Amino acid sequence: MTANLYSLARRFLVVAGAAFMLATTANADSDDDYDGLPPGEGRDEVYGICASCHSARLVTQQGLSREAWAETIDWMVDEQGMGELDDETNRLVLDYLSKHLNIDHRPAHVKKTP
Ligand code: HEC
Repeated sequence: MTANLYSLARRFLVVAGAAFMLATTANADSDDDYDGLPPGEGRDEVYGICASCHSARLVTQQGLSREAWAETIDWMVDEQGMGELDDETNRLVLDYLSKHLNIDHRPAHVKKTP
């Protein structure tokens, strides 16, 4: 009887474990799919454009003002070979960056340095 209970419990754990893994991998909107870019309007554009040359981590590790982001985008265009963005995309990208990765939202490890 105890052996039966034990194997039942084991079976339950295996099923529960498989269900848990399914549930976590089915979550396609997880931050990991975007290299840590937080969810929000414009994320697809930022990921598609900015992560085509370098990791999006290079973007998420920053915490910049809107002006500084605008300068960064100009710098990508002028010096790093990024194609110029049309006005609509530029606004979307700039809105996203200055909303989600602004000076108040610096990751803890960036916050330490002034
Ligand atoms: C055509 C390729 C290309 C594209 C597209 C591109 N970058 Fe870059 N980016 C680079 C290169 C090359 C560097 C490294 C420059 C260096 O450190 O000299 C860089 C570096 C950076 C850095 C690091 C700056 C630092 O201080 O270390 C940031 C932030 C950045 N890019 C943001 C962006 C953002 C935001 C976008 C999208 C709007 C973008 N990049 C798109 C090529 C690109």
